[in-house]
Amino acid sequence: MARQPDAPVGALQIAPSILSADFSDLASAIHAVDAATDRLHIDVMDGHFVPNLTLGPSVVASIRRCSAKFFDCHLMVTDPGEYLGAFAEAGADGCTVHVEVGNTAALIAQARALELNVGLACNPDTPFEAVAPWLEKVDLVLCMTVFPGFAGQAFIESVLDKVALVRAAVDRGGLAVDIEVDGGIDHETAPRAVAAGANVLVAGSAIFGAPSPLAAARDLHAVAAAR
Ligand code: DX5
Ligand code: ZN
Repeated sequence: MARQPDAPVGALQIAPSILSADFSDLASAIHAVDAATDRLHIDVMDGHFVPNLTLGPSVVASIRRCSAKFFDCHLMVTDPGEYLGAFAEAGADGCTVHVEVGNTAALIAQARALELNVGLACNPDTPFEAVAPWLEKVDLVLCMTVFPGFAGQAFIESVLDKVALVRAAVDRGGLAVDIEVDGGIDHETAPRAVAAGANVLVAGSAIFGAPSPLAAARDLHAVAAAR
């Protein structure tokens, strides 16, 4: 049985993205936001699916020793099937693969067999129809609100139309699926994303770029909850 996030499905969750943290002291960065973290977002990039490189299973294993939070690994890689086992072994709780890489049925089955919580991500220009067939098979849909690869990019507002379509389909089907947004989430955009139907908010620079990351994460939750 896959480990579930502490918050119930559909509840508002803040997911700090360690991509914007100080990689020389990840333990301190993770501890600093612990009290306001519902799940920790871990961005994995392969320099092929996206034009950037970040981290792999060995870093996940290291930070697993200093955090009991739900680890939400976002795999921006061309061949996630090669690495799902290593991430599960390293202590990932959930892995999200991109629908654009294809092979979706097999990847979901592989992640299930590894007892991972399963997410399916889509880029800003990938239509709702690409994720619609998989809604009953996954635990989370991640609608990217920037093109993946880098922190600190501007939020793409038009993605909210797709978020609303995913929310409508999830609610209509009575599905236990979280809807996550990732990219450019801050005090301005978080309430709009929640109004559109998102319930998991990933934030990198808005949290780790703030003078007090803990206060920023708490404020983000507060403004999103009050929308
Ligand atoms: C982008 C990553 C994001 C990134 C978000 O490719 O998937 O998780 O860290 O960073 P911000 O919140 O700064 O846009
Ligand atoms: Zn991400």
